[in-house]
Amino acid sequence: MTDLIEPVIGLIGGSGLYDIEGLEEREWREVATPFGAPSDLLLFGRLSGVRCVFLPRHGRGHRIPPSELNYRANIDALKRAGVTEILSLSAVGSLNGDLAPGTFVIVDQFIDRTFARQKSFFTTGCVAHVSVAHPVCPRLGDALESAARGIGLNHRRGGTYLVMEGPQFSTKAESEMYRAWGCDVIGMTNMPEAKLAREAEMCYATVAMVTDFDCWHPDHDAVSVEAVVKVLLANADRAKALVQAVIPLLAAPRPPCPAGCDRALENAIVTAPAL
Ligand code: ADE
Repeated sequence: MTDLIEPVIGLIGGSGLYDIEGLEEREWREVATPFGAPSDLLLFGRLSGVRCVFLPRHGRGHRIPPSELNYRANIDALKRAGVTEILSLSAVGSLNGDLAPGTFVIVDQFIDRTFARQKSFFTTGCVAHVSVAHPVCPRLGDALESAARGIGLNHRRGGTYLVMEGPQFSTKAESEMYRAWGCDVIGMTNMPEAKLAREAEMCYATVAMVTDFDCWHPDHDAVSVEAVVKVLLANADRAKALVQAVIPLLAAPRPPCPAGCDRALENAIVTAPAL
């Protein structure tokens, strides 16, 4: 019989999410990694009795821009903290007229247009190529969808998230090109985060919280930090409600991930074992 896995939920909070209220037995702790320091201390605690570990992606006070985040340290620190599944909460712009600001999109695909970040744990000594054909864990997506429905959240299941390098927002030509590619939302942070979570054999899902229509929409002003922050503050309360609702759905000890997220390295390593 396969042993059941006791879930430990990792929560990565994006812009506007720097703490998780209601966490019991809370304690901020330093976690060191061979890749350097993560964005901040990690907040350990329990929600509905479930062990949770929270990391503010940009650090408390929003100190680190997307290109300077140490994505490897962040994922490695969560892994060392015992995390088995990651829920990533991220502010995004909308590239789809049906996804207005305030909508929560449980994305299922990414297009990675980042180019100035360390994207793999396998850079020296060991060559591995994991599959990211399906970068989001469907089991986590199901739980998020049920939780969103349960609390009456304006949400959509499925969508493609274009990850740009930033920190500047897109030009109109870029925004229109991404729309032509069929992308639904745009942000700066979920890659290489999702790829590294897969390399670290952790289930991963993103809730992309729409704050603006980027710059393509003829009836809306081009995105500005002021507009983003305004919607962000309203989204943050809904994000916290979603977290409270989803954790109990992930509480039970579970069998290995049906999609194989937790076994991603099986058949991925090319380097011959040392003799
Ligand atoms: N984050 C929030 N809105 C964004 C946008 N329009 N482009 C990139 N990142 C964003």
